[in-house]
Amino acid sequence: MKPSTLECDTLLRNVLIVDGSGQDPQPGGIAIIDGRIAAVGDVGSYSASNIVDGRSQCLSPGFIDTHTHDDLYLIHSPQMLPKLSQGVTTVVTGNCGISGSPVATNQQEPPSPASLLGTAEEFRYTTFRDYVDAVTTAQPAVNVAALVGHTTLRNNHMDRLDRTATSAEISGMCSQLAEALEQGALGLSTGLAYRSANSASEDEVSALAEPLADHAAIYATHMRSEGAQVINAIHETLRLGRTRNLPVVISHLKCTGIDNWHRSGEMLKLLHSARGEQAVAWDCYPYAASSTTLDLKQVDDRIAITITWSSSYPELAGQPLSQIAQSWGLTQQEAAQRLQPAGAIYHGMSEGDVRAILRNPATMIGSDGLPNDRFPHPRLWGTFPRVLGHYSRDLHLFSLSEAVRKMTSLPAERFRLNDRGWIKEGYAADLVLFDPVTIRDEATYADPIKPASGITGVWVNGTLSYTNHGPKGKRAGRFLPRQSPQEPHPARRQQ
Ligand code: ZN
Ligand code: CU
Repeated sequence: MKPSTLECDTLLRNVLIVDGSGQDPQPGGIAIIDGRIAAVGDVGSYSASNIVDGRSQCLSPGFIDTHTHDDLYLIHSPQMLPKLSQGVTTVVTGNCGISGSPVATNQQEPPSPASLLGTAEEFRYTTFRDYVDAVTTAQPAVNVAALVGHTTLRNNHMDRLDRTATSAEISGMCSQLAEALEQGALGLSTGLAYRSANSASEDEVSALAEPLADHAAIYATHMRSEGAQVINAIHETLRLGRTRNLPVVISHLKCTGIDNWHRSGEMLKLLHSARGEQAVAWDCYPYAASSTTLDLKQVDDRIAITITWSSSYPELAGQPLSQIAQSWGLTQQEAAQRLQPAGAIYHGMSEGDVRAILRNPATMIGSDGLPNDRFPHPRLWGTFPRVLGHYSRDLHLFSLSEAVRKMTSLPAERFRLNDRGWIKEGYAADLVLFDPVTIRDEATYADPIKPASGITGVWVNGTLSYTNHGPKGKRAGRFLPRQSPQEPHPARRQQ
């Protein structure tokens, strides 16, 4: 008798499965039914009208970009090419204290650095639910989970941002945050280093942690300092997590400024000792240069600075600040003032620190890409392939399986994307097929808008959305509401 075959929607055969666990790749295949992984390993009993021969390339879970500023970009550019082309299938928005919602729509200009997200007219979602509806209508090519920004809340409730909030303002922020959490927000982010939030007291932030704790949500922070005061800033973050029993995520962990180089060991030691007592996580991007608004405090003649955009001098995007200053006969500080409002790339980290942080087993990957910048930092298009190609394959900083774990199961666990981040039966079919020999970031500081090489196929919720010939035209991303920490996906329970 002929063995009966099982029908599936898509059959991926002849691949090396890198399942997200960190274990060595295993040859096999997978079957996809209704956007989910139906079988893994020996799929000989399956047939499908859509069969893909993976030619022994690696198949891993789609990458999760833990740190993005794609809030509004993904609504007007739902193709999400900078991310999809890297194999990213889920983005976490709303970082660094700034989010696309909820916003008061009577604002003139979004406060810096919210201007990084879009123009004043684009901030039109007065409730988090409005934002969710807009995401659903736009149907981006990748899944979206969103934090609410502390600075955004401050701007909704305060007349000026250079002071701490009053108790009435705090209670306004708390109820707006609670409403957003009920509507599916992941948690709260802060950007305490920025002028728009730096005056917020620890008590102000701690009050906002109450609705977070009530909703079992998370706290992500661009800390008050990444330079001289970084250890104090880590302590502040840890205190907040401990008092409210909240999981905390430190955004883009780094040592900024030449005077703070080589402090990564001290930081990591402190964080690891805290991990014994509380839930603490962090992300990092694989570059020794940062990028944000052009901040006079960060202008330092000892480091190279490139302008990424300037409203007053748009034509100077891509130029070194030193050159601009020279041609104007000004100091770099003076030139930076004249360029405002503007953005910049700061080559202010030591490669040794970047590698020490990247290599740490608790470190997740987040791009911090700025999608609206005219001349963006290459992390926007290059982050994930750079971890796989440059840092894993070429520099042997960690194994390929470990690189994949940092970009899939680890962030899925931290952000409670309970049915994503693994290749396992029952999990969402967010997948990336890549060639481990050729994968590499093509975006550079000189030429930053370039898709990576070596990404052969990207499936989002079971839909083939991108191949090495470009996007497929079908977009299948979803909004992902916050999930409860108590409810692991059934497939995970069997572990
Ligand atoms: Zn930040
Ligand atoms: Cu950021």
